[in-house]
Amino acid sequence: MDCNTYTWCLAALGAFAVLFFLFETIWNLLQMTRSILAPYLLANEEESSVKKFGLWALVTGCTDGIGKEYAKELAKRGHSIVLVSRTLEKLNATAKEIESEFGVKTKIIVADFSKGQEAIDIVKKEIGKIPVSILVNNVGSQYAYPMYVGEVPEDQLWSIINVNVGAVTLLTRTFVEEMRIRGQGAIVNISSASELQPLPLMTAYAASKAYIRSFSEALRYEYSKYNVTVQHVTPFFVSTKMNSFSNRLLSGNFFVPDAASYAKHAAAALGKVDHTAGYWTHSLQYFIVKTFSPEVSSTNPSETNISKCRRSKHL
Ligand SMILES: NC(=O)c1ccc[n+]([C@@H]2O[C@H](COP(=O)([O-])OP(=O)(O)OC[C@H]3O[C@@H](n4cnc5c(N)ncnc54)[C@H](OP(=O)(O)O)[C@@H]3O)[C@@H](O)[C@H]2O)c1
Repeated sequence: MDCNTYTWCLAALGAFAVLFFLFETIWNLLQMTRSILAPYLLANEEESSVKKFGLWALVTGCTDGIGKEYAKELAKRGHSIVLVSRTLEKLNATAKEIESEFGVKTKIIVADFSKGQEAIDIVKKEIGKIPVSILVNNVGSQYAYPMYVGEVPEDQLWSIINVNVGAVTLLTRTFVEEMRIRGQGAIVNISSASELQPLPLMTAYAASKAYIRSFSEALRYEYSKYNVTVQHVTPFFVSTKMNSFSNRLLSGNFFVPDAASYAKHAAAALGKVDHTAGYWTHSLQYFIVKTFSPEVSSTNPSETNISKCRRSKHL
């Protein structure tokens, strides 16, 4: 090959790469716009949420943060709510609040998902014949602050595995077949932006959220033909007590909404889009990370970055 042919080959390769990047950017931009607008433009007043999915919704991790506000959003749409988390007093208070504010029925179940199968058995026993039509796998477990895997107490690692992976999988298994038989239902899996990249110092948490993304996408393939909606939600930072290691995050800002604002937008997207970041400024962040920061393996992060992250304990 002479010099001219080489030049042409390289130019063609470069043009192809640029075109590919442009198409991907436009595609991601369209997806972002759709996820922001669809909840409002595709609103179907005739088909209420209860009619579309069924009466009862079960929300895990529902006495605080996103879970509590999401449960209220569903109650506002007329759903009766099964509330599941660890603390009886908080469950009673949340149930009372939802019943009096929205006039729907509630049922509470005390279960600690960090205990694995034991918690799933409690839910199965307590749920009895209630036909759960919407399952919101919201509860999540995280370390107290960023650290090396070797520093994380073993019980916290088990908690991340049991709560973020085990409970999501086993609760889905518990309810999805009934939804398939009824020909309606929805499973909402709350992941995290940490699913987008391997994340040193939050290694196990990020890996567990990448599992949720993969699980949700394959599950949708299996069950959407039976009219079961599988939605995957990817929040960035939300001002909740999960972020109590950082005053900056707790006080919230343009990119860090409070749980009520977040849940309002996320719940509006149910049944409208398969995936959402849940809030418009999060959709913007999702677009930027997905387009301009493709998944890379973080094999050798510099010590400077590590130290910066470790200091985020004091953000
Ligand atoms: N906040 C964020 O910035 C953010 C960002 C990305 C993704 N997310 C994801 O969003 C979801 C909700 O997070 P959040 O920030 O709203 O949480 P949160 O405010 O910390 O609330 C946690 C809720 O879960 C319950 N809970 C905690 N551990 C439990 C366990 N082992 N078994 C049963 N219930 C348990 C808590 O009640 P009890 O203590 O009474 O059990 C509480 O109701 C999680 O999956 C999280 O990973 C959050």
